[in-house]
Amino acid sequence: MSDGVRLWGGRFEGGPSEAFDRLNASFAVDSRMWAHDIAGSRAHAQMLVATGVLSDEDGKSIADGLDRVAAEFSDGSFFVQPGDEDIHTAVERRLTELIGDAGRRLHTGRSRNDQVATDVLLYLRDAVDGQLAAVAVLANVLLSQAERHVEALLPGYTHLQRAQPVRLAHHLLAYVQMLIRDHRRLRLVRDESLAEAPLGAGALSGVGFPIDRQMTAEALGFVRPTANSLDSVASRDAVADYLHAAATLCVHTSRLGEELVIWASDEVGFVELSDAFTSGSSMLPQKKNPDAAELARAKVARVVSDYSGLQSLVAKLPLAYNKDLQEDKHFLFDAIDTVELLLPALAGMLEGAVFRTDRMAAACQDGYLAATDLADHLVRAGWPFRRAHEAVGLLVRACLARGVGLADANSAEITDAGMAGIVLPALTAEASAEAKVSAGGTSRARVIEQWDAARAEVGRW
Ligand code: ARG
Repeated sequence: MSDGVRLWGGRFEGGPSEAFDRLNASFAVDSRMWAHDIAGSRAHAQMLVATGVLSDEDGKSIADGLDRVAAEFSDGSFFVQPGDEDIHTAVERRLTELIGDAGRRLHTGRSRNDQVATDVLLYLRDAVDGQLAAVAVLANVLLSQAERHVEALLPGYTHLQRAQPVRLAHHLLAYVQMLIRDHRRLRLVRDESLAEAPLGAGALSGVGFPIDRQMTAEALGFVRPTANSLDSVASRDAVADYLHAAATLCVHTSRLGEELVIWASDEVGFVELSDAFTSGSSMLPQKKNPDAAELARAKVARVVSDYSGLQSLVAKLPLAYNKDLQEDKHFLFDAIDTVELLLPALAGMLEGAVFRTDRMAAACQDGYLAATDLADHLVRAGWPFRRAHEAVGLLVRACLARGVGLADANSAEITDAGMAGIVLPALTAEASAEAKVSAGGTSRARVIEQWDAARAEVGRW
């Protein structure tokens, strides 16, 4: 038998076994919500006083007592007791120790089911606010790097094969666009998914007192109370919406991490990462490993699993509350912590990254990056694109066979490819990039236009 007083002890003859207690207890996980639990209790008690369910005196005593419990949590003097199943139980137990019977009245018209659903949303709202700010920092770092690298050209890739030259700024701005969508998704979570307060739903069917749910909702920063009490305690959609947004964000940071790993390799050498974000090898003295970039690549596995874990947890549960839902916080907190670790590290790594634009330029000397530009040149001379594509393909093959780039094709090769009389245009990487004048393309003017628009968007956050 385990020790400790239970808040639900009345119906039970014996206490819970230790093995059950260990399985059931969630304090270690959910105690991080102490401030949100206390805020919810404060709002609930104020509302009970306002609606005449609790006396002014009890309300005052509860408010003072909650202040004292909060002080104990902040200065580290709160002592968890064996019977403290979760944060809700622990706060109420301590409050009652401090203020006596008034503490026993706090849970009037409330259940831990609507309480925990509310606490989780309050905690998540704070976390989302922090992550919105962290996404903004990362986007600003990418914007500054992009601003410095409008002139630099590197090969753009498809299938990890060199395809066409692009501006480094253009490449970095692609990630800014992903972050702009991530930021929008997180704002949607905050403004839509977290708009409604479950508090006041009771255990499942509502409560038997004339409570004012709009009042507690507003006091806690929600727009309105939830509409259906069963749904309020049974659903975790807001958590799922956040985990989806976080998973997509991590897909983006994972791709960025992977590109930095590739770019930092000896083979490619497009970037030099700072000592502050790399590590050495315990055996190989020469090594400088891009660990931060690798971890950025890796973390997506956790957050996508958190999303899938939460959804699998809730799926198939009958209405309304089930203890299974206690596990929601495992997935939620893991994702929140992971994103909180990741974003500042990635921002710091990118801020200190030195792009080797000389090596990028050298990689653009690959003789075939302008093949499409040559085809476009023929199209401008009146050729159907498909014929131009075929002819340039023949010329590429002839040049490959002789080991030269397209620009060095001789007139016999040009004639054999069906382009007799055609004078090749300048096939430089710069000319190729400047030719991409379509909106969103890699010409200097279009990249500057993209940068301006992205900067304005990020500036509004
Ligand atoms: N620790 C629980 C959770 O996180 C709180 C709700 C408990 N409700 C109950 N009926 N046992 O879900």
